[in-house]
Amino acid sequence: MNENREDLASEDSLLDATKLVSNLGTRIRYQVYYLEKCGSTQDVARELAEKGAPEGVVVVAEEQESGRGRLGRRWFSGRGGLWFTVVLRPKPDALGLLSLGVGVAVGRVLRGLGISAGLKWPNDVLVDGRKAGGILVEGFTVPGDGIVALVGVGLNVNNELPHGLAEVSVALREVVGARLSRLLLFLNLLREIDNVYLQLLEGRGEVILEEWRRLSVTLGKTVKIITADGEYIGVAVDVGSLGELYIDTGDGVRAFYAGDVVHLREVAPN
Ligand code: BTN
Repeated sequence: MNENREDLASEDSLLDATKLVSNLGTRIRYQVYYLEKCGSTQDVARELAEKGAPEGVVVVAEEQESGRGRLGRRWFSGRGGLWFTVVLRPKPDALGLLSLGVGVAVGRVLRGLGISAGLKWPNDVLVDGRKAGGILVEGFTVPGDGIVALVGVGLNVNNELPHGLAEVSVALREVVGARLSRLLLFLNLLREIDNVYLQLLEGRGEVILEEWRRLSVTLGKTVKIITADGEYIGVAVDVGSLGELYIDTGDGVRAFYAGDVVHLREVAPN
């Protein structure tokens, strides 16, 4: 077992993050709100942000009763998983790559534990082809108070997955063969989100993109993308500075800013 993982093997409480977060030495001044249960941490965070919560407020819950994923999909959030939302107040320039950037942060943390995580566009965290987590960034403006980004991260850690999801989803406990400490994962994720955010604020988005490309399991594959205005098939060739995916559809390269991607097959190298 990877030695970093052994550190993660003992049980501990997410509640401790409320105190430990101040020792992380991050630029974002995190303040953790711990909840046993809520509807969605996104909604709790939104309410706090609308009331003026500063950047760095984080809502973490043991259980969400109506966790959601992209496109309003249901996100199963039983006990044992890691479900949290960070309130950020980014400059507009940093918004475009925030979702991909948080994916990179998750990728860094998991790979640091020896887990071979990959990123599927736009925001899925895959391990061995199955979904271990997802990222949901919801942005809105508060009149007179600038942009707010609610950065939601969901990771299947020690939780049981609903039966129907076993083929497409995986919990990290199954991958590692042992329960992991959600507390240490959570603190590492907050530290890495801080690092990525700083890079974005400093205009170093290209570095994040380069890292995303390396972690990507989408680029180089023949994919089908399902969008609001139709379905397209082609080879995923790149991502751009707004997080968009470029697909070579055979009659040109097209940019997609939203959609669901299905991986069809690897393109054989020339
Ligand atoms: C996706 O893959 O579609 C994104 C899933 C994001 C789930 C997280 S869990 C914490 C936060 N609260 C939610 O209701 N959703 C996000």
